[in-house]
Parts: sequence; C-alpha cells; structure tokens
Amino acid sequence: MRSLLSDFLLSQLGAHTEGPMHRRLYECIRLAILDGGIRPGSRLPPTRDLAKELSRSRNTVSAAYDQLLAEGYIFTRAGSGTFVTDHMPDGAMARIEPVLPACARRAVEEFSHRGSHLLAHTGASPHQWGAFMPGVPDVSSFPHNLWRRIHSRLIRRIKPDYLTYSRMGGSPELQQALVDYLRVARSVNCVAEQIIITEGTHQAIDLLAKMLCNVGDRAWIEEPSYWGIRNVLAINGVEIEPVAVDSSGLNPPEMHSENPPPRLICVTPSHQYPTGAVMSLQRRQLLLSLAQEYGAWVVEDDYDSEFRFSGNPIPALQSLMPGAPVIYIGTFSKTLYPGLRISYMVLPMALAGEMRRAHSELYRGGHWITQLALAQFIAEGHYASHIRRMRLLYARRRTALSRLILLYLGPDALRDDSNAGLHLVMSLPDEIDDVALARAAGEMGVYVRPLSSYYLTARRKKGLLLGYACVEENAIEPAFKVLLACLARQHH
Ligand SMILES: Cc1ncc(COP(=O)(O)O)c(C=O)c1O
Repeated sequence: MRSLLSDFLLSQLGAHTEGPMHRRLYECIRLAILDGGIRPGSRLPPTRDLAKELSRSRNTVSAAYDQLLAEGYIFTRAGSGTFVTDHMPDGAMARIEPVLPACARRAVEEFSHRGSHLLAHTGASPHQWGAFMPGVPDVSSFPHNLWRRIHSRLIRRIKPDYLTYSRMGGSPELQQALVDYLRVARSVNCVAEQIIITEGTHQAIDLLAKMLCNVGDRAWIEEPSYWGIRNVLAINGVEIEPVAVDSSGLNPPEMHSENPPPRLICVTPSHQYPTGAVMSLQRRQLLLSLAQEYGAWVVEDDYDSEFRFSGNPIPALQSLMPGAPVIYIGTFSKTLYPGLRISYMVLPMALAGEMRRAHSELYRGGHWITQLALAQFIAEGHYASHIRRMRLLYARRRTALSRLILLYLGPDALRDDSNAGLHLVMSLPDEIDDVALARAAGEMGVYVRPLSSYYLTARRKKGLLLGYACVEENAIEPAFKVLLACLARQHH
C-alpha cells in the first residue's frame, strides 16, 4: 500500500524528466516543501519505506535526502526520524520559478452573469462574534457537556444508518421532535413527513427556488430585507421585487394587469428583518388571501421568534388557516449556534413527499448523528431550558444597550423597537452616512451593520443594527462609547 506522499511524488516525478533519479526526487520534495505541499515540521518516511513505495533503490532516496539535509530543507532527530524544517534556508524562495496557474486570470472573467451579480452584492462579514455583530447568538453559552453526553450515548450504539447519506429530508427522530416543539412553541400543526431538515435557511430557500420557480418568476421580498435570501433567489434566476414594509409588516402593492403576480412571497412576520416590525393580524390575513388568489407560496422565515421579551408570543402565519399556502422555515442558528448548520422547513402536505425526494437528490444530506443528538436534546427538554436561559441573558443585554441609547441619543433613536430578537435598530437622522459610520466603527473593532445597506431601492432609512446577543454585559458600555465617538466625528 502506497502512502499519500509517494502517490504525490510519483505524480510529480513525471513532470521532472531531466537528470538522474536522485536529483529529480530531490527537486520534487524541495518544491513541495517550498509551496507548502509538505508542511513545515512534518515527518518524512524512512528512506527504506519511501524507496519501496516508489520502486526505486534505497541509495536513490538516501542521496535525495542527503542533498536536502545539506541545504537545510530537512533535519534528522536521533531516534525519531527525518523532519521538514520550520525555517527555510536563505535564498530558497529565489530558487523556485514563479508558476502562474494558467487558468487563474480567465476564471475571473468567465463568471456567469448571475455569479458576477452575486459577487457584487455579497453581505457576509468576516466578523461573526463580538460587539455588536447582529444575528450572532451567544455561542459561548452552549451546553457542551450535555451535548457530549448525548453524543457519546449515540456513538456507543452506532448503526451504519447514522453514517451514511441521510434520506427523506433528514432524521425522522428530529422531524418528530420538531413536530412536538413547533405545536407548543409556534402553534404550527404538522406531521413529521412535512418536515425537511436543511443545512441552514439558505439551503431551504435554494431548494424552494429550484423546485417552485422557473427562471424569471417573481419573488416579493421585504424592503428592507436580509441580503442572504435575496442572493440565493437571484442566483437561481428568480426576479426580486422589493415590497415596502411599514410598522405592520409587508404592505402588499396594488396589482396592475401588466404586473405579473409573484410566485413566492418571502416574509419575516414575527420579527421583520431588519426593522423589527411585527406583522399585524389584518396583514397576515390579507397576505394569505392574496397568495391564494395569485397561486403564490408564502415563505415564512421565522428565524428568531423564540426571543420575545415582552407581550404575548405571536403564533406563526402558517397556523392561521388550515391548508394555508405557507412554507414555514425555522433555524437553530439563533437558538443554539450558527455553525451547527441545522434549519428546517415545514411544507404543505401536497408538496412534502416530492420535495423530500428533490432534497435528497440535490444535496445528499448527512450529519445524521448530529440530527439525532439534537432530537434527543429537544425531547429531553434541554432545548426549552436553554432557550429560557438565553432569553434572560439576552433580555439583560438588550436592556443595558437600550438604556445607553436612550440616555445618549434619546427616544427617537429607538422609535422602531419591537422588543424582540437578537438585535435592535438604532435609528439615525437622514443626513448621517450610516455606511461610513459602520466602517469607522469597524476600524475601531466594533462591528455593526448600516440599516441603509438592507434596502434595494432609494428610499433608505438610516440607522445601525446593533446585535447585543454576543456581547458580555460589561462590554456593552465601552463598545457603545466607541460608536458614540464615531458618531460625534460624523457630526463635525
Ligand atoms: C432573516 C434571516 N433569516 C434566516 C437567517 C438564518 O439563516 P441560517 O439558518 O442559514 O443560519 C438569518 C441569519 O442571519 C436571517 O437574518
């Protein structure tokens, strides 16, 4: 059996055909050390083993090693073997000819129109933790010990099923746990067969776009809205139609005959993202009847409704009417942690079977053990306790931050607050450049998102989204003072 290194060296030796074999072998190893293919500090195989794997004489390999040793690329440690150096010999880099991958430049020019559009509208930030990154929960509070115990229990009774491709929309245990949870927590009535477990909300939207929309079909998207969902729809050829949001949520436009009806209506009724508006009952009913009239699907993104700090919980839109044309999407990204990459979709029965087949065909799901662990975590009540604990923590952080905003900027800065979720919107006067303000704060290590960047049309409101979930309470004031200093600089 050959090692990966000898497979690699054999493939490289083909490209070095000049000179004696020991010299060619030396050159292949040297180049691999220089370009990082063979990592600093890694152990090279003994000459005898490598010679056997390469079907060469041991003298050939020893001569190549001796040369590398003499030049300082490798060193030997008595009794433990031969290792790649951590410090490159002087002038080593100058001796490799720059190799420009021939296709690298062309690829940039050859992205599709949709790909180029995506690259021009990306929103993902390199910062996913700390004051005041919106949308990121306190991942440091995750109960790892409990989780590990559930995991170990599963591993002790492991079955081949747990390790192969998942089928039919994910683990039936997790689907059932969600049926029970959603009935109580969100008034969503469904059976396990209606649920598909997805790797994030983005995957759920991707599946919906591919399976329910033809290229050129329209989706109504809240204005302002989360860029991620827009991007997934757009790259699937769905036309985005921004629809204004007011304090009662999405405000459907008057339809004209020349205006094609939407195929999808994407909404965040429990806590509009990013403004925080809660969709009124009247609007919910209007939306459902419009969807029925147009033959459209309402996509209900219920991304952070577990976190409401006052008032009654608001049942999901999906629960309002039996047989409602609603696809409900929930996620564990905000309640547990985003890196878990587990979200779920509740589909109307008429779509569910075929959508599960399509999901398995397109994404070949996996992570069955994680899904089983999560099912047990929910069924044993740990999920509900974790949410309860996090609600208290976030409520304290939210209160601390809103107090500071009220104290320094007055009630106008919190006029759109709905007392829910993991972020709040700090409204700013129109003359403030919120993009420049967010950039300046970022340079000082405080990460916020400008409200205006969530809009597609020119009617942009100014403000900052401040996430309070991933900031320790005692770090809130110092970070907020940095923001105030940046704001004061804009005023001058
Ligand atoms: C509006 C909205 N929906 C959904 C999500 C969650 O997506 P996912 O489940 O892929 O983590 C986010 C995350 O920021 C969001 O802001």
